[in-house]
Amino acid sequence: MEHAILTYQGKTLELPIVEGSEEEKAIDISSLRQATGLITLDVGYQNTGSCTSSITFIDGDKGILRYRGIPIEELAEKASFSEVAYLLIYGNLPTPEEQQIFSKHLTQNSMIHEEMLRFFDGFPPTAHPMAILSTMVNALSVYYTDYYTEDFQGDTFDLMAASLISRIRTIAAYSYKHSIGEPHVYPKRDLKYASNFLYMMFESPVNPYVPDPDIERALSTLLILHADHEQNCSTSTVRLVGSSMVNLYASICAGICALWGPLHGGANQKVIEMLEDIRRNNLSIKDCIASAKDKNSKFRLFGFGHRVYKNYDPRAKILKKYCETIFKKYNYDDPLIHIAMELEEAALKDDFFVERKLYPNVDFYSGILYRMIGIPTNMFTVMFAIGRLPGMIAQWKEMHDAVPLKIGRPRQIYTGSTIRPYVPIGQR
Ligand code: SDX
Repeated sequence: MEHAILTYQGKTLELPIVEGSEEEKAIDISSLRQATGLITLDVGYQNTGSCTSSITFIDGDKGILRYRGIPIEELAEKASFSEVAYLLIYGNLPTPEEQQIFSKHLTQNSMIHEEMLRFFDGFPPTAHPMAILSTMVNALSVYYTDYYTEDFQGDTFDLMAASLISRIRTIAAYSYKHSIGEPHVYPKRDLKYASNFLYMMFESPVNPYVPDPDIERALSTLLILHADHEQNCSTSTVRLVGSSMVNLYASICAGICALWGPLHGGANQKVIEMLEDIRRNNLSIKDCIASAKDKNSKFRLFGFGHRVYKNYDPRAKILKKYCETIFKKYNYDDPLIHIAMELEEAALKDDFFVERKLYPNVDFYSGILYRMIGIPTNMFTVMFAIGRLPGMIAQWKEMHDAVPLKIGRPRQIYTGSTIRPYVPIGQR
C-alpha cells in the first residue's frame, strides 16, 4: 500500500493512500489528530472526500459521468427513469421480476394521504414549489410512520424508497395545480412514471391531457440526467443529516432545501430568468460576458462553471443536442436557446472562462427543455429534486449499509476571542 509522509515538529507520520476502482487516490487522514494533534482545513471541501462510494463516478477533467459503471449517454438514450432509480439504489439494472415489483410499489404508493391535501390550503398560490415540496416530504413521516423505524434494511426500506420516489411526483403536481387554482388530479395506475406526472400536471376537467411519447421521453431523459451526481452539496446534506439516524423523509427534506440554492439546483431557474432578462432588455452578449467577468457586477453567468467538471458537463452536451433534435422535429423555436448558444460560444472563446475551465453545466440547457414541456420556471428546481431523489436515497442507503455508521461532525479552527470575564451591563 502506498503512503504519504507527513513531517511535523520533528515527527514523521505515514498516512495510507486509498485508491478507488477508477485509480482515484486519497490520503486517509483518520489517524492524523491522534498522532499529531493536527486537523485539516479545507473550506468548501474542495480537496476533501467525505466517503468512498460505488454509486456514481465522475471524471471532471474528461467530462465522464457513469451510474454504477454505465455511461450516462447510454442510460439517457436507452433506459427508463424507474430502471435508473433501481440501478442507483440497488447496484444493478432490475431483472424483469425486480422491475415488476418496483413498478408495482411505485404505482401502489403514488397517492398521498387524503388528509395531506389540507396542507395545501395553508400555502398561498404564490408559494415557491420548493418550499411546498420540502414541507410536504417531511410531513410524509407523520402519515407513513410504519416506515419511521431505525430498520433501514429489507422490505421496510424498499417500500419507503419506492413510495417516496412516487409521492414526490404527486406532491409536485399537486403544488402546481394549487398554484393555478385548479383541482388536483389523482395519479393513474396504468401510466408510467413520467407520463403519470405529466397527466397529473396537465389533465383538467376542461382540458384533457394529450399524451405525447416524445415529450414523455424528454422528461424521462431530464430525470435520468439528474438522478445522481456523487457528493454534491444537497446529497452531502442528505448524508450528513441522515448520519444522525433521523428517518429518510427528514434527510431528504434537508437535501431538497440545499438543492434550492441558486449556486446549486436553483441555477436552472436562474438561467431562464437570466436569458429572459437579456432578451427583455436586449442586452448584448458582449456586455453580458464582460459583466460575468466583473467581480463588482451582480451579473453571474448561471448554468456555467462547476466544482468538479473542468470540461463540458456531459449532461449539458446531451441536453443541448436533445433540444436541437426535438425542436427540429416539432418545428418549435424558443428565442432563449439562441441567446444561450450565443452566450456559450462567446464564453468558450473568452480567456477568463477558458483559463478557469468554465463550461456549461447541467442547468444551462435543462430549463429550455422544461419550457418546451410546459413546466413553469419556478418548478424547474422541483424537477431537479424529482430526478435527484433516487440518487439521494441510494447515497443515504449506502451510508446506512456501511458499518459502523459514523455521525458526521466536522472540526474547526477557532479564531474568536480568547478567554475573558463576564462584564455586568453597568460597566460595559
Ligand atoms: C449544480 O456539485 C455538483 O455536482 C452540482 C450539480 C449536481 O448535479 O448536483 O452538478 C448541479 O449545482 C451545477 C452548478 C449550478 N450552479 C450554477 O450554474 C451557478 C453558477 N456557477 C458558479 O456559481 C460556480 O461555478 C459553482 C458554484 C458552480 C462552482 O463554484 P466553485 O467550484 O466554488 O468555483 P468558484 O466560485 O471558486 O469559481 C472559480 C473562479 C472564480 O473566479 P476567480 O476567483 O478565480 O477570479 O471561476 C469564476 C469565479 O468567479 N466563476 C464564474 C462562474 N463560475 C465560476 N465566473 C462567472 N460566471 C460563472 N458562472
